[in-house]
Amino acid sequence: MTSSHDPAVLLGPASDRIRSAQDREALQALERDLLGKSGPVGQILASIPTLPGEERRAAGQRANELKRALEEALQVRRGELEAAALEAERSGAGFDPTLPPAPLERGGLHPVTLVVRDLEDLFTSMGYTVLDGPEVELDHYNFEALNIPKDHPARDAQDTFYCDPEGQLVLRTHTSPVQVRAMEHIVREKLGPPFRAIVPGKVFRNEAVDASHEHTFHQMEGLVVGKDVSVGHLIGAMKTLLRGVFGRDIEIRLRPGYFPFVEPGFELDARCPFCAGGCRVCKQSTWIELLPCGMVHPNVLKAGGIDPEQWSGFAFGLGLSRLVMLRYGIDDVRHLLSGDLRFLEQF
Ligand code: FA5
Repeated sequence: MTSSHDPAVLLGPASDRIRSAQDREALQALERDLLGKSGPVGQILASIPTLPGEERRAAGQRANELKRALEEALQVRRGELEAAALEAERSGAGFDPTLPPAPLERGGLHPVTLVVRDLEDLFTSMGYTVLDGPEVELDHYNFEALNIPKDHPARDAQDTFYCDPEGQLVLRTHTSPVQVRAMEHIVREKLGPPFRAIVPGKVFRNEAVDASHEHTFHQMEGLVVGKDVSVGHLIGAMKTLLRGVFGRDIEIRLRPGYFPFVEPGFELDARCPFCAGGCRVCKQSTWIELLPCGMVHPNVLKAGGIDPEQWSGFAFGLGLSRLVMLRYGIDDVRHLLSGDLRFLEQF
């Protein structure tokens, strides 16, 4: 071994230089110097090809040893310099320990969460249970069990994102699949019928987005199964819901609507608050589609394991994102999941 490549010999002067570095920049420059190609470690590495075979391994080890020792010394000096800089700042003229700290940025609840919490309070006070279901759903629950077989045209209105090559797993297009899951669960666990449940949640659709259509949005399903449940009960529940959210009666209209999983089915629309005769939210109609609903189809009760001869029920699929828009006067649904703090900070 030549003494010029002896780690012990090389480390001494290098350590002196490290210890005398006076600030972070000088230390960084030194680090580049010492660990770079032309530094002592680089020199040992460069010499390896010129050495006889049996000495090469030892030379490699020496280079590693030296590198580790230099890194350690650099780390120690870095710590010393940081501590000294902090101390200087504390005792320096510009430091005023009496100044108040920078304000803490506190987060807030998302407007969808605010409305969901109100709805959960309202519905649990009326004896409803709050349920949840998977966002990645089986085709069976999202479509088939809801009376929407493979070739049914209703599938076109709810195109989705398929998650497997066989098309069995889909991002759910509505919260309605939880209707059947809920029935199965309630029957299996012998909790009913009768029962009432709501299911707030995120849903997904492959569709062109605009001010009132997002690809990812929120709905809240409602399901009531009991003896002699009628359309009268359904309308009563819808009115209570809207009064609970808006704190007053809002103008609504009920018209026939087609959904394969209810019979009869209705569309409940709310008067658009953004326009007097036409705007980009309601597209000139002055009404916003908000709350489709209907009497649960006997086939759906059967799919959930409930005898339609004995039990009947109603269901609704609240457009939660649109309800949030109405409640807070938000004129574009795309704000809701934009993650834009300028929007979110307003709630
Ligand atoms: C349904 O999703 C049915 N599952 C609702 C239902 C449940 C009917 C139970 C009967 C019984 P629809 O596709 O219309 O229906 O969507 C329901 C509501 O979600 C609409 O009224 C609307 O308020 C909202 N909505 C639909 N598509 C979007 C979208 N792309 N962006 C935001 N909100 C939407």
